[in-house]
Amino acid sequence: MLILGIESTCDETACAVVRDGKEILSNVVASQVDLHKIYGGVVPELAARRHTEVIIPLLKQALDEAGVSFDEIDGIGVAHGPGLIGALQVGLNTAKGLSLGSGKPFIGVNHIEAHLYAAMMSYEKEVKFPALGVILSGGHTCLVLVEKIGKYRLIGQTIDDAIGEAFDKVARVLGLPYPGGPEIEALAKEGDASRFSFRAGRVKEKPYSFSLSGLKTAVLYAVKGNGNSVSGEDLIKEEERADVAAAFQTVVFDDVIKKSLNAADAFGCKDVVFGGGVIQNRFFQETFEKKKRELNLIWPAKELTLDNAAMIAGLAYHQFLERPEGDQLELAAQATIPFASS
Ligand code: KG4
Ligand code: ZN
Repeated sequence: MLILGIESTCDETACAVVRDGKEILSNVVASQVDLHKIYGGVVPELAARRHTEVIIPLLKQALDEAGVSFDEIDGIGVAHGPGLIGALQVGLNTAKGLSLGSGKPFIGVNHIEAHLYAAMMSYEKEVKFPALGVILSGGHTCLVLVEKIGKYRLIGQTIDDAIGEAFDKVARVLGLPYPGGPEIEALAKEGDASRFSFRAGRVKEKPYSFSLSGLKTAVLYAVKGNGNSVSGEDLIKEEERADVAAAFQTVVFDDVIKKSLNAADAFGCKDVVFGGGVIQNRFFQETFEKKKRELNLIWPAKELTLDNAAMIAGLAYHQFLERPEGDQLELAAQATIPFASS
């Protein structure tokens, strides 16, 4: 089955052609990072306008690179959330238009589920279920039990900031540009994590949930002084910024790893699948590999880690197996979608 995938949830427009959920025939992405960089974050209206400009040429490119004509496509998979509504509308309405014009079915895909599927898609073997899903991104920090593809149980999430958001805010405190995650990772390499002692938050009676806002404030006060704001003067020496970055990064990831190991034990998971922009962090990957005990860690291939449409087309294939007729034109773009679908 040949599926055309479309992705426009945030600041990447992407199209892909995937055969039978796994074989990637093309996977093209137009990133908007440079467009938003000067604003320190994604500007929703600019994102939507750029999606509108590039989506049709990108669709043609994805078909060309795959060497297939639109006639040969069996169905269209499109991310219908979670994301920015204006941005989502571009991809979703393109999918609906194609479907209406051609009579081919289209199906809405949850972008976050697709990030987890990206890891499974990259894996040559069969994933052992239940697997633990670890999603770390700019908007999500969650642990989910993957009972099978399409069946998930949320077992823990952040009660305040998402992990990527915390990285971006701490980066701002340290005077680093957006997106802050890679900047903190680079700065932390020169730092000594033991020079500052930060603590990750605990959530009462929720052993697999996260709280990062207290930690974020502790970093702010360590750098700028108690009660001061991001725009205040630094209290610490220039060379201590790297120590703060290292201490923050270590504490956050130790917390994620500890809770993931405990959850895998408690729910009898042998495989762990990862998704979201933050998991690109090499320090996180290396630390988890060292501490994994007998767990098998399944990371997405590099080209499937960032937002892409191959993961959308791949997951759509599995949804089409269950619902060949796909979705109706009433399917709406959704800013948030509750993760658990069990
Ligand atoms: O999944 P993603 O590309 O976008 C969504 O949130 O959907 O994740 C973006 C987030 C940003 O907050 C960025 O700072 C963070 O991922 N990030 C990182 C790294 N690379 C990107 N965080 C920590 N370390 C990294 N190397
Ligand atoms: Zn994403």
